[in-house]
Amino acid sequence: MAEELIPADSDEAAAAAGAEEEEQPIKQRKNGLYPGVSDELAENMTSGWADTELRDLEPIAQAAHTADRRAALSARFPGERLVIPSGNLKTRSNDTEYAFRASTEYAYLTGDQSEDGVLVLEPQGGGHRATVYLLPRSDRENGEFWLSGQGELWVGRRHSLAEAEQLLGIPAKDVRELPEKLREATGPVRVVRGHDAAIEAALTDKVTAERDEELRVNLSEARAVKDAFEIGELQKACDSTARGFEDVVKVLDKAEATSERYIEGTFFLRARVEGNDVGYGSICAAGPHATTLHWVRNDGPVRSGDLLLLDAGVETHTLYTADVTRTLPINGRYSALQRTIYDAVYDAQEAGIAAVRPGAKYRDFHDAAQRVLTERLVEWGLVEGPVERVLELGLQRRWTLHGTGHMLGMDVHDCAAARTEAYVDGTLEPGMCLTVEPGLYFQADDLTVPEEYRGIGVRIEDDILVTEDGNRNLSASLPRRADEVEAWMAALKQG
Ligand code: GLY
Ligand code: MN
Ligand code: MN
Repeated sequence: MAEELIPADSDEAAAAAGAEEEEQPIKQRKNGLYPGVSDELAENMTSGWADTELRDLEPIAQAAHTADRRAALSARFPGERLVIPSGNLKTRSNDTEYAFRASTEYAYLTGDQSEDGVLVLEPQGGGHRATVYLLPRSDRENGEFWLSGQGELWVGRRHSLAEAEQLLGIPAKDVRELPEKLREATGPVRVVRGHDAAIEAALTDKVTAERDEELRVNLSEARAVKDAFEIGELQKACDSTARGFEDVVKVLDKAEATSERYIEGTFFLRARVEGNDVGYGSICAAGPHATTLHWVRNDGPVRSGDLLLLDAGVETHTLYTADVTRTLPINGRYSALQRTIYDAVYDAQEAGIAAVRPGAKYRDFHDAAQRVLTERLVEWGLVEGPVERVLELGLQRRWTLHGTGHMLGMDVHDCAAARTEAYVDGTLEPGMCLTVEPGLYFQADDLTVPEEYRGIGVRIEDDILVTEDGNRNLSASLPRRADEVEAWMAALKQG
């Protein structure tokens, strides 16, 4: 990649962006590190460009839904200015940045995914007027287009503000005007923190941490029940994820010849081709790595006879993610002990899924799954019963390790800022989506279990939508029962 003629954070870039010194010829604003720019070249670069404005654009698919979501937010905070930033690029090294992913709150309320965007809801009448503040098209007159790091010549064409208005169904303005407007604004204001330091700085005298946290919590709880568009996207995420798991099974021999990285790369290819990204770092845990809950280094060997715990999810272009785990025998057949442990986890998951229905307490599916796992652990003689005593003391947790699931949506651990009473102490409602993911993990150095158990980890995870009369497994297209997994793997390897 070539370097920018003028680094984005230099004074010259600000001048090139037209912030000041606009009358200064470009050739005098050269950075010492870079060759000069002649007036002739500068003149040349300002002209000869076609009008590419897009007209009569259709709104994006989620525009009607985002309007409803903004209306619900407006009703919860009457008379207050609400500021929801998308976030900024984060530097990886020098002038390279991490891939940008818009904040969940901003994308949920606008459907937009631009960096540096900000949604502002200003009180008006009994409700609010929404404006989305965005970086406009690059100015071709003042050099911004080709000399600034944010210039479209470097980063690609942006939508014009007029285009954005049509696509999002929200009036759009230049985000560079926003800090000054916010500094001058009067009346109560709240901002979603953690995404845009410059916007927060402009509001520093006007906001409090407690009130801002209320906004974040509110937006987290608002996302618990998914609308029809969101459910469709979650289904797409699960379908793409299922295809990604099939891709992995087909290349297990190549993974055996290399490492867990082959599995990570294979799944990532599916995620990038069909979606935006993976929704979280893929856990490609072969052999004893399966007992490490968030194994994302993925640099270990893949060996015949071991299990592969693959926990991965495609994130759609609209930022909804799946979160699915299958624990697969690398050679296609579970050993007797692997299967015994697998079946216990499967039975626990079945019990957990059966407990997901409207009106059930959120904790019910966890309790149901934990009970099954505990019964097996007692049956195998790994912990002394009775089962009630083990559950009361939580002794099974040495091997079950984690909660049995979580809300799922735009974030893999969705609605994470919700209050306890609205989430783990709450009640399931139609439209909620959650994972059911029991597991058993016997660490390689666990001296309390027979040697043959050590280094075995099993988790099975599916994405379950609460429906009016029960639930629907969105990831059901991937087999779960041991014999079905084996048959599915055999068919894929043959194909
Ligand atoms: N993939 C992380 C989780 O299952 O929660
Ligand atoms: Mn997972
Ligand atoms: Mn999960």
